[in-house]
Amino acid sequence: MLVASSPAKAILFGEHAVVYGKPAIAISLDRRMNLTVFPAAEPEVDGGKLSMRKHRYVKQAYGDLWNGLSLAFRTSSTIPSASGLGSSAALSCSAVAALLFLRGMFSEESTARRAFEVEYNVQGRASPTDTSCSAHGSAIMVSPREEEDLLWTISALGTVWNVHHIEPPELKLVVGYTKKPSITSIQVEKVRNYYNRSGFARETIDDIGSLVMDGLKALRSGDLVKLGELMDRNHSLLTILGVTSKELDKLRDAAGPLSFGTKLTGAGGGGSIIALTDRPEQVCDAIRKRGGVPFAVTTSRTGTSIEVRDQDMLDTLIIPGPGEKN
Ligand code: PMV
Repeated sequence: MLVASSPAKAILFGEHAVVYGKPAIAISLDRRMNLTVFPAAEPEVDGGKLSMRKHRYVKQAYGDLWNGLSLAFRTSSTIPSASGLGSSAALSCSAVAALLFLRGMFSEESTARRAFEVEYNVQGRASPTDTSCSAHGSAIMVSPREEEDLLWTISALGTVWNVHHIEPPELKLVVGYTKKPSITSIQVEKVRNYYNRSGFARETIDDIGSLVMDGLKALRSGDLVKLGELMDRNHSLLTILGVTSKELDKLRDAAGPLSFGTKLTGAGGGGSIIALTDRPEQVCDAIRKRGGVPFAVTTSRTGTSIEVRDQDMLDTLIIPGPGEKN
């Protein structure tokens, strides 16, 4: 009846530090989470009863936004799950967007806001980087200050994130997926414990924040050598925070000699690295030889989108007029 589709993302600079209000830069990728929605006798996802244990993000979105007739959801995705590439953000954006659409309230900004709330409630501490990037597409910078091209401002528990559009850079990036899951909530909690007890951890978070602004300059001037250097440095700072792993470092070792720079992307622990390179095929081969799953990526200009497949069926479900459940 209705398909909501949202892109994956890669964080170029600033993961973890962004949770503490520091800046970050993320780009959306040409891999997507498609969520088909249709009426059903009872709420379900991929043929199973909708449950908090199995479908945390869809269940949270459904509880927050829907009180109409029962809906079924079918997922189809080219984003590996728990890979540091924002699969849960893309799922949250798609679920939220579909439900907002059925309420006559869909927009890019409302999707970004409500999907952030979904992630925040499911994961505990989170920043709006992944959800805003997936909702908007292209590339974004999140920062504590308002700059040019502000899209929206989101805050939680006193932390303010200003989300800005940035022109998607023409970069050749290769993702190397370790096949080891990256569990965002565990890595975020690990960093939080370290942050709370160590001044060195807090300085490291500050250092990541400063590096992101240098990254923005390098990105705007197309300085690949500088970008690569900053990616390597960002990775070293993430190593201090304890979120790399031997699987991630093995793939970095493979891609590093063929790249301008490499780093883990997303929460870490497992998940993926990204490599900035002008030799994508060779980097893919090197990653494959070390047991990783490589794929070359480009930026997606399209954020969350909605496609209506059956207008008649949709008409039976739409809740007329604006008015949020919450
Ligand atoms: O691994 P992912 O795709 O869930 O990205 C997490 C990014 C963090 O900065 C670690 C957390 C956040 O909410 O920003």
